Parts: sequence; structure tokens; C-alpha cells
Amino acid sequence: MASITIRNLDGAIKEKLRLRAAAHGRSMEEEVRLVLGELGDPLPSPSWGGTERSDGEGSFLTLHKDPSLLLRSLPPHEGEGKGSALSGRRILLIIGAGIAAYKCLDLIRRLRERGAQVRPVLTKAAEEFVTPLAVGALAADKVFTELFSREDEHDVGHIRLSREADLIVVAPATADLMAKMATGLANDLASAILLATDKRVLIAPAMNPRMWGHPATKRNRAMLEKDGIRFVGPNKGEMAESGESGDGRMAEPLEIVGAIEKLLDRSPKPLTGKTIVMTSGPTHEPIDPVRYIANRSSGKQGHAIAAALARLGATVRLVSGPVTIPDPEDVAVIHVSTAREMRDAVEQLLPADAAIMVAAVADWRTANEAGEKIKKKPGEKAPVLQMIENPDILAGVGHSKSRPRLVIGFAAETQDLLANAQRKLDKKGADWIVANDVSHATGVMGGDRNAVRIVTRSGVEEWPDMSKEKVAERLAAKIAAALQTVEV
Ligand code: C5P
Repeated sequence: MASITIRNLDGAIKEKLRLRAAAHGRSMEEEVRLVLGELGDPLPSPSWGGTERSDGEGSFLTLHKDPSLLLRSLPPHEGEGKGSALSGRRILLIIGAGIAAYKCLDLIRRLRERGAQVRPVLTKAAEEFVTPLAVGALAADKVFTELFSREDEHDVGHIRLSREADLIVVAPATADLMAKMATGLANDLASAILLATDKRVLIAPAMNPRMWGHPATKRNRAMLEKDGIRFVGPNKGEMAESGESGDGRMAEPLEIVGAIEKLLDRSPKPLTGKTIVMTSGPTHEPIDPVRYIANRSSGKQGHAIAAALARLGATVRLVSGPVTIPDPEDVAVIHVSTAREMRDAVEQLLPADAAIMVAAVADWRTANEAGEKIKKKPGEKAPVLQMIENPDILAGVGHSKSRPRLVIGFAAETQDLLANAQRKLDKKGADWIVANDVSHATGVMGGDRNAVRIVTRSGVEEWPDMSKEKVAERLAAKIAAALQTVEV
């Protein structure tokens, strides 16, 4: 039997062949013959994309056109991609113009070995860093580069490219691509897809540390985060330019794969199918058009709990007062200002499986909000603000007809912590009160740590001082356990 030597094939195809051949206990040549036989064409024909010639040492297969055809013809070998969150998922990978683009070749391999389909899009400038041939061969798909390609628009089109994906990944996301995304530019295929998509988008920024630290990039980043764009990296480390180091290295391919797996994970979680309504942050109660009454709540604890519940699979609807922190990941957020707006939003969101009211709602508001700015007049006394009580949102939920199975309130106290918390259980119709000491010295209000006690009708659990993130995780786990039991 004449041996087949495959020249000019991309290393990835050879690697794939090697793996398949090893798995089947065959030589690579035998494997190629088998694959070609499966295609109904024992020897490559020009229409397949290759030609065969012999120079006495054996047959040479030279691919002219699209090496991905060979890769595509290779079914995944046994076990490949099975059981992975990525199995069968479609990832549209936009490769930006940065030196880190070379890592995308490995990224594509890692995604494909987990069973994902990767459809690559290269920006024009990215072609200076990686070739469409290499990208296409590894992805086993056509590489899209042009916005106004008659062939591609007819064939797929940029709208369909985004619609047909489960997730869009931008790697490397250059400062330029981030700026285009933040401002909604759509003057090339990559940016047009990003503007047209309704799918989730994960970006892996990569740029010089000074570009990453520039106020413009910081603004763009904040805007993108607000728009729900997910980030992986960048990491700190050496840059490609000699002597440069800092924040801006693109995340490693396996880190990006991890972030993608997290986003596409559909495995059932402890709170899958459960809906949880939450409040967080302070409220602002207007005195006049420019002044308001507020408190020091940062929203950190409530937002962290919302994120932790979402990570456990809950559908979390969060009503947030005015805060400066970003919306928690995977949480639908309604932004309000006053206690009355917060109450109305919460009422709209019931029924739910649980309600967790973390907001530091102002207990009072001014009785008569001035329509115009209150002016200081010479000789006149300081104005006296008349206050009236705000609606108690937690009590409203706790005693409502559509009361959730589990109702949790918070008690921020500066004295008699436990006695006050216990009183609130009944007064507010809550199942648990999470009590914390917010005396100035504790630094809890606005800080990053918290020491809480969980007060229920069956007793008090005292948790040690820990980060608000940890409190959130522990509380989310306790909530999951409670919602899994028949009776709370
Ligand atoms: O009565 P107090 O403000 O200490 O109660 C705190 C608990 O009640 C928190 O869970 C808070 O979110 C909730 N609350 C509320 N509406 C109010 C006041 C407090 O939901 N008007």
C-alpha cells in the first residue's frame, strides 16, 4: 500500500488526525484513507480541495483551498466534548487586532475539544496577526471578515451570524473594539454583529497597560459592564512589547474557556426554577428638587446576595435604590429612588418563591416636598421639615396575600440588636431577620465586611465576621436549603 504523506496541512489538523488515529489504533495514513473512504472518495479530488501526485516516495496530498474541509469531515473522536457544558454550543468568536490573537488559535482548539462549534470572525486588522487559513482550519468553519461581502451577506449575513450563536466571544478585545461597542459603532463586520446581537457577549480585553488605564477605556469599560457585557481578564503581567508590564494581558485560553462554560452552563442548580424578589441600597427622599434625605447604605451586601442567588440558578429580580456599584451579574435590576417607588416595583414583582428585603429604606419622608428649591432668606429661620412615615415594604410583603414562602428581612441596628431583630420577625411577618450591628465603629455601612446573626423563630445563628461576599454565599446556600424543604 502506498503511503500517504500529508504536506502543507495545518498542525491542528495533523494533531486531530494523530489523536483519532491513536484512538482507533491505526496509522495516520490509514486514518486518512478511512476518512476519505467515508466521504465516498478514496483519493482526494480537486472538488474536495486537494490534488494527489506521486514522486516515487509516496503519494502527496496538497490542500489548495480550505483545509477545514478535512477537519470538518473528521467526526469528533469518542468522548470528545461529551458531558461538557460546551457540547453542541455555538460560539461566534470575534478576533480583534492584537498580538494576543495568536492565543485564539489555542482557544479555538480548546473549545472544539469540548464539543463547541466555533464560527470565527476576523477584523480586517486582525488578519495582520493571524491568517484566516489557520483560524478556519482550526475552527473547521468559514472565516468571516467582510461586512459588505456579496457572498457572505447572501449566504449568512451579519444579523444571522449573531442570531445563530449561543454566545459571542471577543478575544482579543482591543481598546478600539471596546470603544466601538461602547458607542454603538457598526462600521465593520465585527462591530455590526456586536450591535445587532441579542445574545450574551463575553470579551477578553488585551492591550497595553496605559491604554487599559486610560480614562477613555475606563469609561468604555463601565459603559459595557452596564450594558451587560461580560469580561474575562485582562491579567497582570508581561506585555509583548519589551520592558512593558502591567494590567492588559489577555486572559489565557483556558481561563476564557472557563468563563464561557460558566455562561453557557445549563446544568440544574439548587435554585433553578425559583424566583426571588429583592431590594438593596438606600432610598432617596426628596426635600426639594435638589436636596434629599438619604443614608449610608452602599448596596454592597444586597447586591452580593442577589449575585450569589443567581449563581445558584435563581431568577433574581432586584429593586435597587441609588447606588454607585454595578448591577449584579445575571440579575434583572429595576432602579428606583424613593421608598414609594421601591414598594410599587416590589408589588409588581410578586408572586415569588422568596423575598429578601435588604434595602435601607428611609423610614420617613418629608410631608411636603417643595416644588422649587427652598431659598435661604435673610432674617428667616431655618426651615422645619415635617416628616411622615414611609410604607414598610417588608411588612407589606410579609403580610400580603401573595406572600412568598420565604420572607427575609434585615435589621441594621446600633443597639439591642437581638431584641430588635426578634421583635421584627412578627411585626414584619418575616421568617428570618438578618441582624447586623451598624454602629459607626463596625464600619459595616458602606464597608466590605459584615458580622451577622440569623434570627428565626427557632433560634439565633451567629456568624463570624467575614466579607460581604462570603455572607452572601452562605446566606444563598441557606436559602437554597430552605426552599428545597416542603415547609420553611
Ligand atoms: O424597621 P427597620 O427599618 O429596622 O427594618 C429593616 C428591614 O425592613 C429591612 O429588611 C428593610 O429592607 C425593611 N424595610 C422596608 N421598608 C421600610 C423600612 C424597612 O422594607 N420602610
